[in-house]
Amino acid sequence: MIQDDVKDYYGKVLQGSDDLQTNACCTPDDVPDYLRAVLGKIHPEVSEKYYGCGLVAPMALQGASILDLGSGSGRDVYALAGLVGEAGQVVGVDMTDEQLDVARRHVDFHAGAFGYGAPNTVFHKGYIERLGELGLADASFDIIVSNCVINLSPDKPAVLREAFRLLKPGGELYFSDVYADRRVPQELLEDLVLYGECLSGALYWNDFLTLAKEAGFADPRLVEDRVLTIENPEIEAKLGGIGFYSATYRLFKLDLEPSCEDFGLSVTYKGTMPNGGSEFVLDKGHVFAAGEAVAVCGNSYRMLAESRFAPYFEFEGDFSSHRGIFAGCGEDMPFDGGNVGGCCGGGESQPADAANGSSGSCC
Ligand SMILES: C[S@@+](CC[C@H](N)C(=O)[O-])C[C@H]1O[C@@H](n2cnc3c(N)ncnc32)[C@H](O)[C@@H]1O
Repeated sequence: MIQDDVKDYYGKVLQGSDDLQTNACCTPDDVPDYLRAVLGKIHPEVSEKYYGCGLVAPMALQGASILDLGSGSGRDVYALAGLVGEAGQVVGVDMTDEQLDVARRHVDFHAGAFGYGAPNTVFHKGYIERLGELGLADASFDIIVSNCVINLSPDKPAVLREAFRLLKPGGELYFSDVYADRRVPQELLEDLVLYGECLSGALYWNDFLTLAKEAGFADPRLVEDRVLTIENPEIEAKLGGIGFYSATYRLFKLDLEPSCEDFGLSVTYKGTMPNGGSEFVLDKGHVFAAGEAVAVCGNSYRMLAESRFAPYFEFEGDFSSHRGIFAGCGEDMPFDGGNVGGCCGGGESQPADAANGSSGSCC
């Protein structure tokens, strides 16, 4: 069974990130200072067994309750524990004993490192497709994260359904994973190294979007992506030209529409988000500069007004008057491997006065 092979890969074959055969499970170095400071407090044994492919630290975490799907040695759980504060809580779930052993060994160490009176972390052994077995209640988490894990699941629709069930309304699944630019042939799924290295189990990006919508996440938003260069000629030859990307998506549990609709709404970021600086990135197409009113579609408006981000924005308009669809909500491949830019597959966010009333504006 593939899950036993994956357990073996992460529990016995790999002893640390140096043993990885490709660069699929590695995170770029451009980490913001506040996060670098928290990561600096993580126990070295935990960091050595980190196999993530992105950063899963969204903004505004103070007091949040967070679930990490496939928490491994616990690096993201502990980083998030430092960010949610003593009033927050972070729960990790993983199926591999060896990884859980490392994570659990350092619970008290991290409570001490963050200056907390008691630990705010807990690790459960379990399968991310069957979280009901762990007694986790419906609508009990503000945020669910995952870092380079869902590609390893043999039942990805079940993982997305479980995440939707466990999120509170207005909560989000914010996760980094590997995607392919086409469907990966079955014979590559049977190659244990390709699968274990988070490549051949990767979803074709458009199939992922379909599955996310079927699970209830109506408007998946791409936050960032980068090309995976693999850097192993033998493995590249086996992959036969399939392109792989690491991408971070955010999926809100909100009553959203299938498309970006224009109601003449706008929002202004107040610039007050802790650690946020002078701009807030909702996704690749929505970077809000402090103090600037920006026209947004109904879905973007709800993502800000009906989530933990609401206190950091001013909102203008209501849903009483529909003006049609925002142009640029296309179906092209969303990844360009670059940095922030683009919008819903199309143009860019614009100031409200430039975009209001214009059918060419962006969501
Ligand atoms: C690539 S590692 C990433 C670990 C961790 N997120 C990190 O960033 O270091 C994948 C992890 O997911 C776990 N995993 C894979 N499939 C799982 C499943 N179906 N249920 C629970 N854990 C799973 C593995 O045991 C392994 O620890």
